[in-house]
Parts: sequence; C-alpha cells; structure tokens
Amino acid sequence: MKEGINLATLDPIIVEQIDALLTGETNPVVVLSNASAILADAMPDTNWVGFYIFSQQTGTLDLAPFQGKVACMHIAPGSSVVGTAYSKGESLIVPNVHEFAGHIACDSASNSEVVVPVTVDGHIVGILDIDSPLLDRFSAAEQNVLKQFVAALAQHVDVAALNAVY
Ligand code: SME
Repeated sequence: MKEGINLATLDPIIVEQIDALLTGETNPVVVLSNASAILADAMPDTNWVGFYIFSQQTGTLDLAPFQGKVACMHIAPGSSVVGTAYSKGESLIVPNVHEFAGHIACDSASNSEVVVPVTVDGHIVGILDIDSPLLDRFSAAEQNVLKQFVAALAQHVDVAALNAVY
C-alpha cells in the first residue's frame, strides 16, 4: 500500500465561509491572514499554510501571511514549487516534494505540497502554498475546492493595497 494514502476531503463550505468573513474587508494582510487560518483549521495533516505575493520591488515572491514554521522569505519566479506555479500560472499537486527538482524545504517535516495561483483582475498576484508531513496528502477534489476558495478570496483582494505592502 502507498504510504500516506490519501483519504482527505475538504468541505466546500469554506468557500462560503471565506466570502462571508471577508465581506467589507479591504486590508489585504487581514484578508490573507484569516484565509490561511481558515485553511489550516479545515485541513488536517498540514504543517504549513500560507501565501507568497509577487513583489514589484524585489521581483520575487515574498512571504505573506501564513500558519506554520519560519519559512523562506523570497522565492524567485520559475524556481521551486511556488515559483513554478507562479511562472506557469497553474495549480500543482506535488505528491512527494523530494522528487520535485528545486523544491525548497522550509520545514523538513514536509513531504507533499499543493499550490494554487491567486488571480485578481486577470493577473496572478501570488500563490497559496500548503504543505503536509504525509506523502500524497492532497487530492484533485481538494485542489478543486482550494481553487474555488482562492477565487472567492481574490474577490476581496485590493491590488493597489496589496502593492502598497509588497
Ligand atoms: N516548498 C516551497 C517553499 C515554501 S515552503 O514550503 C513554505 C517551494 O518549494 O516552493
């Protein structure tokens, strides 16, 4: 049997929850902070949940609100899992991070990972990144819910306010 066999599900109710919670909120740090908290709470067997936001100033994906251990602060587009998702503009499931060339191990406990681009007004502003200590933790069904969740939260992201921070 495959180690870390995937039995996880993610309740789609989180899509409605994030939309309701963020109604009227305009501070992007507040938005991303509570988005990472909802996901960390809703997804068992995860050890890092958070965002990397592209910074016009540094030209890198910079560490943004998260739940988890100290993490890499700047990731170059095109490198690692986060940078690859950003450059390709697509969500990725990495069943075994140790087999992904260029993977950055922020937490040595991480074994699998899922990333979802955050798109606002047709532009990718950053990446949602979730790590798990289990191998093959993330299913396509969960990835689909995460995409809906990110689309809902993106409705509450003010790009001008985001660029003022990043
Ligand atoms: N593993 C990621 C780096 C970020 S940490 O997981 C929080 C990557 O390879 O892009």
